Amino acid sequence: MTARTRRPMVGGNWKMNTTFPEAVRLADDLKRRIGRLRAVDIVVYPPFPFIEAVARRFDGERVTVGAQDLHAKASGAFTGAVSGPQLRSVGCTSVLIGHSERRHVFGDSDVTIAGKLAAALQADLDVVLCVGETLAERDGDRTFAVCERQLASALHGLDATALQRVVVAYEPVWAIGTGRNATPGQAQDVHRFIREWLAGAFGAATATATRIQYGGSVKADNVAELMAGPDVDGALVGGASLQAESFASIIQAVGQAGTPSSKS
Ligand code: 13P
Repeated sequence: MTARTRRPMVGGNWKMNTTFPEAVRLADDLKRRIGRLRAVDIVVYPPFPFIEAVARRFDGERVTVGAQDLHAKASGAFTGAVSGPQLRSVGCTSVLIGHSERRHVFGDSDVTIAGKLAAALQADLDVVLCVGETLAERDGDRTFAVCERQLASALHGLDATALQRVVVAYEPVWAIGTGRNATPGQAQDVHRFIREWLAGAFGAATATATRIQYGGSVKADNVAELMAGPDVDGALVGGASLQAESFASIIQAVGQAGTPSSKS
């Protein structure tokens, strides 16, 4: 691949962490620290009840606010669920789809995830589609097969235009919250596979334009080496996004690693 033209992107997935005052404090702290970081798209994913307040905090900033999940239906008798149009109406502009905790803790199936992805696009939300294998699947040499299955089922029926609103996040399940990140080589191998799969399904131009983030124990001190992979376009960060200082350091490192001149 020639010099990278994709704009790097860093996401902070807060998961089920923070109370309301903590969420607001984290947003304010982050806002102060990222004032001069211009080269990276930044998205934070707070818990549902805090999305509106955090989005207001970042109004006019370069940080956008996303949701961690949504329901496939737009409205109706679905107690406890939150829909795409509801998210859109409080300033949310994107959503994580198929996060490993949704798949493995809540039991979201490939079919459920495909429905959620379609609903997100229908609601005018950008999508970060998360894929990745468990340790048993990696040990069984099924990493590419699992990622291919997750991509094919979630993106089935979409065209290249729709793909412009989709970012892929490769998050190996065994690396999430474990402190054991993929090696830069492991990450790059899977990112390359994902891009080649996208090229086969949607054409080379779409594949070249699509951003692929890595997630799983990303920290300020390992993100630069992960970003060295030519197909690694940013990071989706869990634990280290809960401290503004470490999250800002990660954003800064991604911005430095992601300049076209340094990455070819
Ligand atoms: P950790 O960075 O805590 O491993 O979480 C990664 C993740 O799940 C981001 O969506």
